[in-house]
Amino acid sequence: MEFAQVVFYGRLGKQALSMFNLDPQQWRGARVLDCPGGPGSLSAVLRADGFDVTAVDPLYALAEDSLKQRALADLDRAMGQLAGDPAIRPGFDLAACRQEHLAALDVFLADRRANPDRYIAASLPALPFADQQFDLVLSGHLLFSYASMADGGLMPAEGLDLAWHHRALAELLRVSRRAVRLYPAHTIERQARRHPFAESLLAELPPRWSGRFASTPYDQGHDGQTEVLELHR
Ligand SMILES: C[S@@+](CC[C@H](N)C(=O)[O-])C[C@H]1O[C@@H](n2cnc3c(N)ncnc32)[C@H](O)[C@@H]1O
Repeated sequence: MEFAQVVFYGRLGKQALSMFNLDPQQWRGARVLDCPGGPGSLSAVLRADGFDVTAVDPLYALAEDSLKQRALADLDRAMGQLAGDPAIRPGFDLAACRQEHLAALDVFLADRRANPDRYIAASLPALPFADQQFDLVLSGHLLFSYASMADGGLMPAEGLDLAWHHRALAELLRVSRRAVRLYPAHTIERQARRHPFAESLLAELPPRWSGRFASTPYDQGHDGQTEVLELHR
């Protein structure tokens, strides 16, 4: 599986909760950042549950029509790539997966329309927030996933390199008061392995931060070590 650019691809809120190993009951009252939010419904689901949540993605600069077209085009391209890909377990239900992405997109678009100020256009490694503005910072399917294929990611040639990962994580930690969770912390292959960049980030956390790898119930069609990296201070 390979992607020449970062895909504008989003999951259902309940899938995101599962991939981040997150029990909302344990985070009542938390200010949450989802970066990148993509066209996913995590923000909408947490907001409906009473959370103060903000999502960031560079593509949020686009108007709704363009955003929807981009999401549908990227979904088609991604589904074409996934069909028959050796990184995915045979029998993994891609039709259901497609429907889930479409359902997430609808909920995302409606929530963005209702809460435009909570969907902010920005890019790692520079976020427009104060230090420790959020309690919990979630980041799915950007770090590690978009490293080069040689480094365990999806990009055929120049992916996000290790230096970029260190800058991006420093920024996510800067805006978090308590916790950061990164998913996936594993390589994108059938027998997933712990991602080498994730090991490097964990080994070089700034003072007062610590972390661990945790297995996650989220099933994306890979086997092996499918994990989330949980960081806290
Ligand atoms: C595969 S989606 C992941 C969305 C969601 N977090 C999930 O796990 O389903 C990756 C997202 O990263 C966004 N992106 C690309 N470069 C970025 C950057 N430098 N900083 C933040 N987001 C970025 C893309 O626009 C895209 O929406």
